Amino acid sequence: MKALITAGGKGTRLRPLTNTQNKHLLPIANKPILHYALEKIAATGINKVGIITNREGDEVKQAIGTGEKWGVEITYIPQEAPLGLAHVIKISQDFIAAEDFIFYLGDNMIVGDLKKFIDEFKNQNSNCHLTLARVKDPERFGVPEIVGDRIISIEEKPRSPKSEFAVAGIYLYDSNIFDAVNNIIPSKRGELEISDAHQYLIDHKKQISFSEITGWWKDTGKPQDILEANRLVLEHIEGRTNGSVDTQSVVTGHVQTGKGSSIINSTVRGPVIIGKNTVIKNSYVGPFTSIGDECQIRNSEVEFSIVLNQCEILDVHMRIEDSLLGFATRVVNASGRPRTNRFMIGDQSLIEIC
Ligand code: TTP
Repeated sequence: MKALITAGGKGTRLRPLTNTQNKHLLPIANKPILHYALEKIAATGINKVGIITNREGDEVKQAIGTGEKWGVEITYIPQEAPLGLAHVIKISQDFIAAEDFIFYLGDNMIVGDLKKFIDEFKNQNSNCHLTLARVKDPERFGVPEIVGDRIISIEEKPRSPKSEFAVAGIYLYDSNIFDAVNNIIPSKRGELEISDAHQYLIDHKKQISFSEITGWWKDTGKPQDILEANRLVLEHIEGRTNGSVDTQSVVTGHVQTGKGSSIINSTVRGPVIIGKNTVIKNSYVGPFTSIGDECQIRNSEVEFSIVLNQCEILDVHMRIEDSLLGFATRVVNASGRPRTNRFMIGDQSLIEIC
């Protein structure tokens, strides 16, 4: 069995962060999203992994490398443009050859192992095994119509969903999927839709099985999803202090700090992760916050947020909460007169002021 992981796409919903960085490399608890997918795949024992990248996929290649770190061998498969998930499978046919494979959307995060899905796919002798998650907003996803224990149709982003399930981004296939992706046509939005490929399999009487994901599953497409995934991962971290904490500081709950970091005269309430060479001084860092390497937080308060490497939050008198700060962002006190807010913001940024 092989694995195929996506790391291409447009990432429009995560702009401006994705204007300069591939979304699969954004950190959740200070680790790129794509690492979580690779860890899950490696844990199943699969060692041949294809990663789909954008045409200019060097960024992913450089960050992930040969796969040695996870004990897998990675083949990079560039996609000329984000033409849909069924297109991803279509261009991977040479890599997959005649083997069964797991198709994992690299921006999905799941708790628990993948082995049980592989076993169910094999035990039920399926041509395609889907994973379903109960969601509040099925209209954002591919939605199955289920009668008894059978999926009888699948619709992509339906106006009136026929169930409360989303087809999650973990799929298992045998080579029948290639007939499907080679015979469907692009949808109105110009993509080869994975839901159309599934519908093709249903129409051609192929065996489709499914399991429900009962633990948590997250599709990290939007800023709020990234913050939520960060919260869920931080919930399980252990406390580990590699940096220094002075006697004036109060550190409670599970807090990890990297080498060279210092917490000075501050309150840090875990779960919190702090990278290397970061200084937290006269400040408060609240639960579910990830702070990267080489950041400076001084006379300020941050909670439930992700702060990427080299950010500065200095003398900000309002708590920063529910926020994502991109690489080397600076949020500082506006000194001098007139007293005013001043912005120097990149394209497609979002500032919410109360
Ligand atoms: P999506 O989240 O559906 O799309 P996107 O990443 O382009 O984001 P947005 O909607 O915000 O513009 O993609 C799901 C996963 O599949 C994600 O890992 C990106 C990847 N993908 C590809 O690699 N190639 C593609 O053609 C498409 C559509 C997605």
